[in-house]
Amino acid sequence: MRFSARSHALPASPIRRLEPFAAEAREKGKKIYPLHIGQPDIETPELFFETLRKFDSKTLAYGTSQGDLDLIDRIVEYYAKFGIPIEREDLLVTNGGSEALNFAVSIACDPGDSILVPEPFFPAYAAFAASANAEIRPITTLAEEGFHLPSRGEIEKLIDTSTRAILLSHPGNPTGVVYTEEEVKMLSDIAREHDLLLIADEVYREFVYMDEPYLSFGNIERIRDRLVIVDSVSKRYSACGARIGCLVSKNREFISLGLKYCQARGCSPTLEQLGAAALYETPDSYLSEVNEEYRKRRDILFEGLNGIPGIVCRKPEGAFYIMARLPVDDAEKFIIWMLQEFSVDGETVMAAPAEGFYATPGLGSSEIRMAYVLKEEDLKRAVELLAKGISAYPGRTDR
Ligand SMILES: Cc1ncc(COP(=O)(O)O)c(C=O)c1O
Repeated sequence: MRFSARSHALPASPIRRLEPFAAEAREKGKKIYPLHIGQPDIETPELFFETLRKFDSKTLAYGTSQGDLDLIDRIVEYYAKFGIPIEREDLLVTNGGSEALNFAVSIACDPGDSILVPEPFFPAYAAFAASANAEIRPITTLAEEGFHLPSRGEIEKLIDTSTRAILLSHPGNPTGVVYTEEEVKMLSDIAREHDLLLIADEVYREFVYMDEPYLSFGNIERIRDRLVIVDSVSKRYSACGARIGCLVSKNREFISLGLKYCQARGCSPTLEQLGAAALYETPDSYLSEVNEEYRKRRDILFEGLNGIPGIVCRKPEGAFYIMARLPVDDAEKFIIWMLQEFSVDGETVMAAPAEGFYATPGLGSSEIRMAYVLKEEDLKRAVELLAKGISAYPGRTDR
């Protein structure tokens, strides 16, 4: 049987691809500290579960394709707190931020079109672009520059008649970058001048550790007609398994096209939408405590990594990831070796190889991405194991 070339070309997730090696190591009794995936260990607010327990209908029915209006109203109120004026009609509930991204890229691009994406980027972007037969034009950013953007001129050089959109995460996964006001305004101006859609993936909006205030693309009035915000409860409320996200846009044509995708997939899960509506009632103190916790973890991981000879990394400004260049021949080989060959007292650590976070061939091959989603003692132990692993690894390049 023949399957589509498009499906064959779809990149496998560098975050999940090495899971079989981890499963095998676990089967052999190894304990693995998982730094490869952004699955927070923070508790989901109890309100979510309480709400689900109270559900007493005899039938679990379909909801509307746009999404549960109670949830939509809560999200509208949430945005108002950030000074982002949206109405019910500007919002579509999706099955996680992932589905929102998939729809947004499909709506933006015909086959052969291109989108600008700062690299390294969240690898699902490449999968969604590939499934729309669109090309990612990477805006390469560097650890040495804290993954901030190059000049406007450098970015504009990448634009041609095939370019339809700019897609980015802010705060950034995997870079931890939080774009400055100048950068947010520069990208907004580029989008306006070149008639591009701006897809701002802001699922980490609350995870910012700098003193300067965070500026959402939703706060830039002059791009409201060409802005799509991708959002999710996954990280904000540590509710990754709820699979509830949304698309927000003032562009009514975008929303009406998006609604057709929502209709095709029926609706988002009924129970989880109820739970998500309750999550938006969570007191702000929950978010500030979580922020404080991640700031602490970031400092522990960053300082720990800085103490390992040969590692290059920069302190992330937001989200909960860190990119690090290792003194190894190949990061993926190193991670597999850590799972198969290495352990200290039956323990090892797992990270994500970073090559799949880049579109430019050859970049990222000696880099890993780590998520600081473990508690303090576990993070410290993970760093210790990583240091010992690097020093014992046969493919070390700085000996
Ligand atoms: C930048 C970014 N966007 C979107 C998502 C998707 O989130 P979800 O589909 O769980 O809402 C993730 C998940 O890791 C992410 O890191």
